[in-house]
Amino acid sequence: MSLDEVVQEVKAKQRLWEKEIEQMRSRKFATICVHGAYTKHEAIANNQGAIIEPVYASTSQAFQNSDYLEAALAYKIPAWAYSRIANPTIGYLELMLAMLEAYGTTLKTSACCTSSGMAAVRAACEPFLTDEKRGKKNIVSMAQVYGGTFQLFSERFAKERSIEVRWVEDPGDADEWKSKIDADTRLVYGEIPSNPGIALFDIERVARAAHAQGAPLITDSTISTPALCRPFEHGSDVVVHSLTKTMTWSGRAVGGVLTSKENIVSDVVCEEAKRDFAGWVKLWPLRDSGACISPDNASRVLDCIRVLRGTVSLLSENALRVAEFLEDNDCVDRVNYPGLASHPQHDIAKKYMRLVDSGANCFGHLLSFEVKGGHAAARRILDKFEFVFQATDLGRIKSVAVIPSISTHQQQGAEARKKARIPGNLVRLCVGAEDAGDVIDELKKAFSA
Ligand SMILES: Cc1ncc(COP(=O)(O)O)c(C=O)c1O
Repeated sequence: MSLDEVVQEVKAKQRLWEKEIEQMRSRKFATICVHGAYTKHEAIANNQGAIIEPVYASTSQAFQNSDYLEAALAYKIPAWAYSRIANPTIGYLELMLAMLEAYGTTLKTSACCTSSGMAAVRAACEPFLTDEKRGKKNIVSMAQVYGGTFQLFSERFAKERSIEVRWVEDPGDADEWKSKIDADTRLVYGEIPSNPGIALFDIERVARAAHAQGAPLITDSTISTPALCRPFEHGSDVVVHSLTKTMTWSGRAVGGVLTSKENIVSDVVCEEAKRDFAGWVKLWPLRDSGACISPDNASRVLDCIRVLRGTVSLLSENALRVAEFLEDNDCVDRVNYPGLASHPQHDIAKKYMRLVDSGANCFGHLLSFEVKGGHAAARRILDKFEFVFQATDLGRIKSVAVIPSISTHQQQGAEARKKARIPGNLVRLCVGAEDAGDVIDELKKAFSA
């Protein structure tokens, strides 16, 4: 068999699978979460009929002859020659995530899984910051981003590489974004909602401002998950998630993903990267950085995603009850939860956060609140919790709480915390699937003590 014949044969098989995937895309969100790209034919023809995606713990794939090997290594046929670059279990997860992020649209999307959420954030940003095209460059980002992302931008990009980072201090104000984006802006970055300040931005308006200057909008949608918000349909070019969070609510895996839609906006990356950014990152820069997810972790993520819609709905219902309790409590100065009418960006939250396939607003599991009496009082309350764990974690099936200023956002320093509106008395509470009444009792006991 010649190399060309090998390519034709493998591509014909691939087309059959693509047709099945297309059929799955027409089904409801919950069905896609259960099955994804692991179709009946895929199970029977390629996986000995296993009904759940097998965990391919093998490092590499054997080929029947040198033609197949050559075609695979030239990326001419879909293959998984070496697991740092591709692996079937990871591939099933990537196809599932690409489908979920495009749900409800006709957009063509692709996904690239990474070893952690931070690896996804970095892999999404780096290609826009190369020096090949122009010297001057800046990033425009909301200040209220996750502490790790803040450090990446301020330490690694600004301090080490002199890339200007322009912080947007009021992310709800689209005009502030617009005023900071210019022809030297390489990328625009936001979280919806942010961790732990629970701030939101208007994806549509910010994407328009970014595109007008030839820059892509990268959205971190970790806290919403595709069950509540799919930023592509509103204009975002690239979406990143920490899979470590709600997507793997069990708390048994660390991982990340960057997804992209076809033909992203950018003045700096090559045509291939523009056409299929996530696919390009997977085959080239991620191949070289080596920040791949493990097949074992990918299978754990897949298992949690199967019930993502129901889990997000339950956690959101519980979080709203807890937020309403906190808002009425004398020990609390302020509650940040997008589902409360008092939230400064409640209207933006209503526009973007809806439980998929129901249309009903639903605001996620993450809230934060400021305790009266300052930092010491916040510590006393946390120390009184009995079943709510103190942990730098979120999106769990179990409720967890933390004081961001001494944990997740400790290293960014007092000045940066002020910019990001993270006072010392702020408690971040991620509401789990326990009975909401029990979580409220836990809070009542802590407050009364
Ligand atoms: C919004 C957000 N993005 C990214 C990350 C980084 O994810 P990981 O811890 O998987 O690297 C986090 C972690 O908490 C996060 O909350």
